[in-house]
Amino acid sequence: MSEPTTRDRVTREYATDEIVVEWEPRLCYHSHNCVRSLPEVFDEQARPWVKVDAASADEIEAAVALCPSGALRTRRPGQAKRRPLGLDIRASENGPLLIRGDVRVLDAEGNVLYEGDKAALCRCGGSANKPFCDGTHARNGFRG
Ligand code: FES
Repeated sequence: MSEPTTRDRVTREYATDEIVVEWEPRLCYHSHNCVRSLPEVFDEQARPWVKVDAASADEIEAAVALCPSGALRTRRPGQAKRRPLGLDIRASENGPLLIRGDVRVLDAEGNVLYEGDKAALCRCGGSANKPFCDGTHARNGFRG
């Protein structure tokens, strides 16, 4: 089976007994924070690209916390999910709106496109995956 494209509405899971890493590629805009933080686990050239057993659950959780888009998430088997408090919206430098909190993104008809703790929304107008950022801002000269 091939890896999903960014437009696929799928979530892949990579699990050990201690931690589950969820990856939703349609939300990823390739900040590469995960790769820089923990390259022994996150390797875009490898298949599978997440080697969840190559570091401790705490190390993986810390690296995934740096994911700005919400494409990577973790959960601990048997533990209740912690819900974030409040909602922060930050305009990143020359990039997307970074939203953290209890996030729910709807389309124009009110259909839920995404629910989670983070999202990165396009503000350059160039994403092929609107309303989500797909990284195009890094190539289209967007400044803001
Ligand atoms: S802000 Fe990232 S593609 Fe538009």
